[in-house]
Amino acid sequence: MSPPFVSETLIGPFTQALTLEQLPLMGPLCDQQLTIQKHVGILIKGGLIAEIGPWSDLAPRIDQKAVRPIGALLEEAGFSSSACTVTPGFVDAHTHLCWAGSRARDCADRLSGVSYEEIAARGGGICDTMRHTRSSCEEELFELNQTRLNQHLRRGVTTVEIKSGYGLSISEELKQLNVIRALSTSTPQRIIPTCLAAHVLPPEYKNSSSKDGCRQYLNDVLTHLLPQLRSANLATRVDAFIEPSAFPVEIARPYLIQAKALGFDLAIHADQFSTGGALLASELGARSADHLEASSPSDLAALAQAGVTAVALPGASLGLGIPFTPARTALDLGCSLAIASDWNPGSAPMGHLLLQASVLGAAEKLSAAEVWAGLTTRAAHALNLSHVGALLPGWSADLLVFPTDDYREILYHQGMMSPVAVWARGEQIALN
Ligand code: NIG
Ligand code: FE
Repeated sequence: MSPPFVSETLIGPFTQALTLEQLPLMGPLCDQQLTIQKHVGILIKGGLIAEIGPWSDLAPRIDQKAVRPIGALLEEAGFSSSACTVTPGFVDAHTHLCWAGSRARDCADRLSGVSYEEIAARGGGICDTMRHTRSSCEEELFELNQTRLNQHLRRGVTTVEIKSGYGLSISEELKQLNVIRALSTSTPQRIIPTCLAAHVLPPEYKNSSSKDGCRQYLNDVLTHLLPQLRSANLATRVDAFIEPSAFPVEIARPYLIQAKALGFDLAIHADQFSTGGALLASELGARSADHLEASSPSDLAALAQAGVTAVALPGASLGLGIPFTPARTALDLGCSLAIASDWNPGSAPMGHLLLQASVLGAAEKLSAAEVWAGLTTRAAHALNLSHVGALLPGWSADLLVFPTDDYREILYHQGMMSPVAVWARGEQIALN
């Protein structure tokens, strides 16, 4: 019997490869810890990086039909120089991409001085998006989501976590998670679904006291939704928005404990406006605590101690005009820090991860190594993904090619330098 045909592609030569290899998962990083390989090729086989090494060693060994010279690719894209830098694809560990409708009105109200929480209390905010999402069919939601995912891919995001949380009933949460599953088999990106049924209390539960309504709703989610998600394999992660105006700590705690007992990994919307969420995430051993704009050093120290990844969401700070997550302090206290877009229609409609991470880096005085790790290896760790986020043999072939011979130019341009070529799980993406 002949051996199975394994197609392979050698791409290069890259002037620089920013590999993100061998960086500690927690604590501060300096740029001297970054590995920059020069004049390298990358051999892709079966969706993985088979080899990365000097072009002069690899190119003569590989069948010429399998070689994709990067110079020709850059020329096709209109660049006269073939100097370029290859990096791992970005991992966006926190999004709410599956929505319908617009919150431009909320935004205008906020600019006139009304707070995010006041808008929510009037029935706007998340509940407004819930109404639009509920009245959209799966096909419509799929289309809307796919457009957003394509935009993300063109900007280099090859792994995307997507939360439900705009359905807010058993059947509507299932609808969202079914759409997310359909996307995961039809887009080039790796999609990680998360159940955020505990986003805010749905209107159907608002007739009893707010605490009783929250308890009743979370009990229904535990009894009727989470077991279905496990058996249909629609999600392995559960998130909750911990705030007095959403789900207070004391009410969320038993829900999250039981979700964990059912086998779900926990991610938590924590300390966006008030504290309590980060301490709960630490107590419960969550994978990540996300937002943390209001966290104190002791909250961040607790996350570091418990090994919970701190996820900064600069897009929400820019969208709401609130302080950035104290990312410098988090790192100095020993946290693992990931940076994600929080792309959603309310607090973070921009969705440009590289721009947001660059701006956070400038505001919080993060080293390039800290920002890059936050967009790749540390973000993959927050999603419990292995072999994603670095350029190493055996790791997923998620590659971005930028038109520069110096990796530092990428953050310097604050998101305005886009990748000219993207590979996701070994497949080259058509960017036009
Ligand atoms: O992460 N804070 C809660 N959830 C989202 C916002 C969702 C929305 O406003 O639609 C966030 O910012
Ligand atoms: Fe969020």
